[in-house]
Amino acid sequence: MTDTWDTIADWYAERVRAGSAMHAFAHDVLLGRLPTDLRGQRILDLGCGEGLITRALAGRGGSIVGIDPSPRMIGHARAAEESCPSGARYAVDDGCSLATVESGSVEWVTAGLALNNVPDLAAAVGAVRRVLVPGGQLVFTVPHPCFEAPYARWSDDGGELPGRVVGSYLAEGFWRSANPDGARRAGNQHRMLSTYVTVLVEHGFAIESVAEPAPDARVVAEQPQRAGLPPFLLISCRRS
Ligand SMILES: C[S@@+](CC[C@H](N)C(=O)[O-])C[C@H]1O[C@@H](n2cnc3c(N)ncnc32)[C@H](O)[C@@H]1O
Repeated sequence: MTDTWDTIADWYAERVRAGSAMHAFAHDVLLGRLPTDLRGQRILDLGCGEGLITRALAGRGGSIVGIDPSPRMIGHARAAEESCPSGARYAVDDGCSLATVESGSVEWVTAGLALNNVPDLAAAVGAVRRVLVPGGQLVFTVPHPCFEAPYARWSDDGGELPGRVVGSYLAEGFWRSANPDGARRAGNQHRMLSTYVTVLVEHGFAIESVAEPAPDARVVAEQPQRAGLPPFLLISCRRS
C-alpha cells in the first residue's frame, strides 16, 4: 500500500501525542512567533493534522478553525476536542482552495509543516491571501528546504562533526522518503527557499521575519547529529 497522510494519520497522531522532541520543538517554534493573547482574533490553522497547534491557539483565546484534507486526521482532531474541549473547530478541506473558509474572514493563518505538503504552493498562498483580512498575517514552518531536500542523509565519513549530505536541492517536486519510521513516507513537496519567498512576494505578502532556529536541547539529546543545523524554516509575513 502506498502511504498517504490519511493512511499514516493514526501513527502520526500517536507519535505527536506521545511527545517526540522534534514535534515539540516544531510546535514551540511556530507558537513562539504568535501572540500569547489571541482574544478577539480569528485564525485558520492550515494543514492542522491532529490539531496540536489548533488546540494551543484556541487556548490563547483565538477563534480557530483547523483544516486538513485527511478525514482521518480531522477525526483525531475532533476526538481530542470532544474529550477536552478547547473551542477549536475543524473541517476537511484542501489548503490549495480553502473552499470551506470565507474570504476576508481571519486575521491569522498558521501552517505548521503543512505548506511543504500542498501540491500547488501558488494556489495555497493565493487561497491564504483570499481568506486573510488586509494586514492579516501568515506564519508557517516547513522542514528547512536546504537541509531536508530530497534524499538528504547524514554523512558517514567519520569526520568529527556529522554533516548533512544534500544532493538534489534544485530538483523541486514530489518525493517520498524510504524511511518507514518517518512522516515523509507519505510524501513531501520539495521547494527551494527562493520559491517560498518568491511565491509570497508575488501574492502581495511582505515578509516580516525569517528564522532558522537552532535545535533545542530536547532535539539534540534525541538526535545529537542535528546540533549544528536548523531543522525548520519559520517565515512570518503580512498580507497587503
Ligand atoms: C507534518 S503534518 C503537520 C500537522 C500539524 N500542522 C502539526 O504541526 O502537527 C502535515 C499535514 O499537512 C496536511 N496536508 C497534506 N496535504 C495538504 C493540503 N493540500 N492542504 C492542507 N494540508 C495538507 C497533512 O494531511 C498533514 O496533516
